[in-house]
Amino acid sequence: MPEALTEDFGRTVVAWQKRHGRHTLPWQNTRDPYRVWLSEVMLQQTQVATVLGYYERFLARWPRVTDLAAATLDEVLAQWAGLGYYSRARNLHACARAVAVLHGGQFPATAAGLQTLPGIGRSTAAAIAAFCYGERVAILDGNVKRVLSRVLAFGGDLASSAAEKKLWDHATALLPEHDVDRYTQGLMDLGATVCGARSPDCLICPVQPLCRGQQQGDPTRYPVKTKKLKRGRRENWWLWVERQGQVLLQQRPATGVWAGLWTLPMFDDEAGARAALAGAEPETLPRIQHALTHFDWVLHTLRAEAPDGLASGGTWVARDRIAEYALPAPLKKLIEES
Ligand code: ADE
Repeated sequence: MPEALTEDFGRTVVAWQKRHGRHTLPWQNTRDPYRVWLSEVMLQQTQVATVLGYYERFLARWPRVTDLAAATLDEVLAQWAGLGYYSRARNLHACARAVAVLHGGQFPATAAGLQTLPGIGRSTAAAIAAFCYGERVAILDGNVKRVLSRVLAFGGDLASSAAEKKLWDHATALLPEHDVDRYTQGLMDLGATVCGARSPDCLICPVQPLCRGQQQGDPTRYPVKTKKLKRGRRENWWLWVERQGQVLLQQRPATGVWAGLWTLPMFDDEAGARAALAGAEPETLPRIQHALTHFDWVLHTLRAEAPDGLASGGTWVARDRIAEYALPAPLKKLIEES
């Protein structure tokens, strides 16, 4: 990589961030690794607008990492409910406990140290270390892969780990000497507000004069990623039974989709759900379509008063106490609206 590109790129991103980047997000203007870590984990697969409310509620309830470590996993899952990708919540809890128990309540002070903790990968570790400690380390999340592969016209297939490693090396080579915190935020801001996946706003892009993808005519050719996700489809039946103002819930197993969350009793087919009702005639609610990373989920719901011979175990929960349980977002919506 030519040295001129390296210097100009870093300087340009830093200057642009100062004038046009985001400065007032609640996890900015702090060097507290607990706050930065919490925001970075929440932002891993979730948009800023969704994260804002969750972030404030988490901090209000657990102001320090040791408070979060003292919570139960069920409490953390209940607060996380609706944010999706629930392994993040389990790792969040495990990480808080590791910081409390193994590190005396202090987050490690380097990216390498942070990366040893549950749920903190290389890019998240680097983001925390750059923001909190000013460490000169590169991030490479999905948005930044897009920005850098376009600027460099990097044609390697990011489905291959060799190409990904090469892009990490480029990301490291591009780091400016100073202001790595502002540079890191600038890359995130560029990815989120200018260099969009389908329609990059090259006319207002500060690095447009340096961008090789743009010079070639079509920056959206990058990043290259051949491995296509083959999406599946799943169908399940929920049984919504009530008795004296209580709803029957079941906790999902500790692995798989919605691990550890609470749902209505779930069946693989309609016949199974009806059989559990022991003859009670249910009402059929509108079906729910829920898109997950690997498959589209169609969820049917049969609703009935609990019959005497109900063949389904679980926990009876009063309707006005359901909010204390970690329910997946589509179920929460269904119950609130029905
Ligand atoms: N996405 C990931 N980290 C972020 C941050 N610090 N600010 C805004 N969006 C982000």
